[in-house]
Amino acid sequence: MGVIPFRNEPFTDFSQEGNRTAFEKALKKVESQLGQEYPLIIGGEEVRTDKKITSINPSNMDQVIGTVSKADQDLAERAIQSAAETFETWKRVSPHARARILYKAAAILRRKKHEFSAWLVYEAGKSWPEADADTAEAIDFMEYYGREMVRLAEATELTRLPGEDNEQYYIPLGVGIVIPPWNFPLAIMVGMTTSSVVAGNTVVLKPASNTTVIAAQFVKILHEAGLPKGVVNYLPGPGGEVGEYLVKHPLARYIAFTGSREVGLRINELAAKPAPGQKWIKRVIAEMGGKNSIIVDKEADLDEAAANIVKSAYGFSGQKCSACSRAIVHTDVYDEMLEKVTELIKQMKVGEAKTLGIDLGPVTDESSMNKILDYIETGKKEGRLVAGGGKAEGNGYFIQPTLFADVDPKARIAQEEIFGPVLAFIKARDFDHALEIANNTEYGLTGAVFSRNRANLEKAREEYHVGNLYFNRKGTGALVGAHPFGGFNMSGTDTKAGGPEYLLLLTQAKLVSESL
Ligand code: SER
Repeated sequence: MGVIPFRNEPFTDFSQEGNRTAFEKALKKVESQLGQEYPLIIGGEEVRTDKKITSINPSNMDQVIGTVSKADQDLAERAIQSAAETFETWKRVSPHARARILYKAAAILRRKKHEFSAWLVYEAGKSWPEADADTAEAIDFMEYYGREMVRLAEATELTRLPGEDNEQYYIPLGVGIVIPPWNFPLAIMVGMTTSSVVAGNTVVLKPASNTTVIAAQFVKILHEAGLPKGVVNYLPGPGGEVGEYLVKHPLARYIAFTGSREVGLRINELAAKPAPGQKWIKRVIAEMGGKNSIIVDKEADLDEAAANIVKSAYGFSGQKCSACSRAIVHTDVYDEMLEKVTELIKQMKVGEAKTLGIDLGPVTDESSMNKILDYIETGKKEGRLVAGGGKAEGNGYFIQPTLFADVDPKARIAQEEIFGPVLAFIKARDFDHALEIANNTEYGLTGAVFSRNRANLEKAREEYHVGNLYFNRKGTGALVGAHPFGGFNMSGTDTKAGGPEYLLLLTQAKLVSESL
């Protein structure tokens, strides 16, 4: 059977009653499975520890999602040894066979789509549509990287020389330390893990501590799809103890990380120092933060701009590295835009993620909540509070969608990543000034422009320095294959996940030249 061309997994239409019923059924099923225990998986074997990580529902702090064994350095050593040993056999499995495991895992995940989304609702606090998009993206990554590996496996065309046969191959790197984030605990975790595996590497997967259960569920699918033991080793544990041990290990060939700027830079620093016995320069693939802006020009569809600013700023409570946290608005339309966005915010509902129709669920945990609330207090000094401004009701980590107007472009809330539902409105004198403000942070991940002025769009195309630039649309929701994702400057190494160059980061090119 041939492989059909890649196409994105469609999102579920929850206005259809059948889809709603199916999703509710999945929520019930998952609810009946809450509170179970999950072991580590090292070399395919289940390992139980006395110390545990307890994953709780951020919408309802009293509800335990699951209890997961917690690794220490000895177990980290076992996991990395297992990955190193398995690499010797896994690297010899053909790229096509490796890709077929991804297609199979994608098929299994598609069959369990609502169930996985329901886990995301409970463990990550995602609304139904946000959870559905996360699961769809996970499926996309596997379908896409499978095909990409097959494409890469074809020998590269090189210049033909008389009397010589020259070929270049892409071979795997070795053991990868995969450290994904909690905000796309399925999609990004699946993308980072399965891209590594399909490229022929073996993995020690250290999932984010807030979302360990969803990762455990996925590792089961990989094994069900036929992934040999030891190719992916599931190792939840504390970043300081276990994460750093793995990153520093001489057998770690590369580190794939998505998370905060602070941790990304720390990993980069640790990985740069060769450990005794280490034979290579470790590669660091880091996707970090953002301080993303949407520019609204004076010639723009203001209703469209307002709706998309709200989606980009408050979707999943602003907990996306792509989220918009600054609206930079031309002075001529500033007041009107502020009014439109404020009106939309007033209609937004905050509540438990499992309730269909909420606009904002909780933020991930107490420390995130406190950090965001601190920024809100800072914002009260730095800007004019127009909407929100504090905690929202409920037995979870709920924060009101918050809007500050008249914020100085250099204010802290205009410069630092908040990772919560907080938006700053900034006034620009003209379009050039708007671009200047948009480029004034140390990040460079996403950006958007709303304008009908062709010359201004062309100017932005050239001068707006972000990895993912969007015109007249929202700044979140990059689709695999269509919008390769990754940013500039302190946003990371511009990895372009879901794009045609991604697997080059996880492979090395070998040239063979034979004199005939
Ligand atoms: N890829 C996501 C988005 O585009 C963020 O990680 O929103």
